[in-house]
Amino acid sequence: MDVVVVGSCNIDLVSYVPRLPAAGETIVGSKFSQGFGGKGANPAVMSARLGAKTALISMVGEDSFGKEYKEDLIKNKIDVSHVGTTSKAATGVAPIFVNDSGENSIVVVKGANDYLTKECVESAKYLIQNSKILLCNLEIDPKATLHALKMAKSFNIRSLFNMAPATTGLEDYFQYCDILVVNESEAEIITGMQVPGVQEAKTAAKSILQKGCQVVIVTLGENGAAVMSKADDEAVHIPTPKVQAMDTTGAGDAFCGSLAVFLSTKPELGLQESVYRANRIAGITVLSPGTQTSYPHWKDLPPELFGEERLLKLE
Ligand SMILES: Nc1ncnc2c1ncn2[C@@H]1O[C@H](COP(=O)(O)OP(=O)(O)OP(=O)(O)O)[C@@H](O)[C@H]1O
Ligand SMILES: *[C@@H]1O[C@H](CO)[C@@H](O)[C@H](O)[C@H]1NC(C)=O
Repeated sequence: MDVVVVGSCNIDLVSYVPRLPAAGETIVGSKFSQGFGGKGANPAVMSARLGAKTALISMVGEDSFGKEYKEDLIKNKIDVSHVGTTSKAATGVAPIFVNDSGENSIVVVKGANDYLTKECVESAKYLIQNSKILLCNLEIDPKATLHALKMAKSFNIRSLFNMAPATTGLEDYFQYCDILVVNESEAEIITGMQVPGVQEAKTAAKSILQKGCQVVIVTLGENGAAVMSKADDEAVHIPTPKVQAMDTTGAGDAFCGSLAVFLSTKPELGLQESVYRANRIAGITVLSPGTQTSYPHWKDLPPELFGEERLLKLE
């Protein structure tokens, strides 16, 4: 495998309503759509669509959503040999209301994702051991994530840890991951400092790096990302071309999936060029609605994104 992801599968259930319903109220919606999401499946789908050999370690319920999800992963050419099925809980769902002004309220019911245990990760040892990079985050039992990071470290497999959703008290995780990816609000939670822009993100990256990982990346939405590795004295800002953003849902997961692909399949590019290309691909996903529905296939992307020529030009 090029990329192995440990994480969640959720079915998004989106209802479009004139206004968000109050307690006890029934209102009539105008449209409904169902989508595949979850911070585990999302980067796995991104990775597979970019042509990388990808496996997902996850858990769904013994229900129609679980069956549908697995079929969708297979359609996306993802190895599902370690996507388990549990009878103890329903497949993870996220019922979402979106009102006419685009505001939303979201409920996440993790369900089966809570049954992705340390033991499930352990049983996928062979898969992790034979991969080029492990990708994980915190939308599952944090103990399962920590175990995956420890396994990768013991096998000398590179790991990319998206510390999302972030909380405090995650000190243990830093020493076991190689590449830590956070967005601005997560960087604020970890450092306790405000991260409103590029300059502060560079300072935050430097401060997080001291906690133990090898590389820290702070994603900055339309401003790209700030990157710093152990060998650097200062963080570097990697800008991204301006685009007309329409729906940024899942952009962070697309960034992580793309970055994992470049690092594992094109190591000669190096970190900064890989971040630049991951920015470009995440930027394309914000041009169209939905999460995985907005993720492109490699054959629909500019060939230069997979070429040998450096695209990143820093002044
Ligand atoms: N408006 C935008 N224009 C261009 N690129 C964008 C834009 N928004 C996001 N991106 C790309 O997506 C990456 C991740 O976005 P962001 O920093 O907002 O992460 P996030 O908050 O985890 O994303 P989300 O929660 O929307 O999935 C950015 O580093 C950038 O490459
Ligand atoms: C960062 O990601 C979290 C989810 O982990 C999300 O709730 C938050 O809105 C994001 N922040 C920014 C600035 O995009």
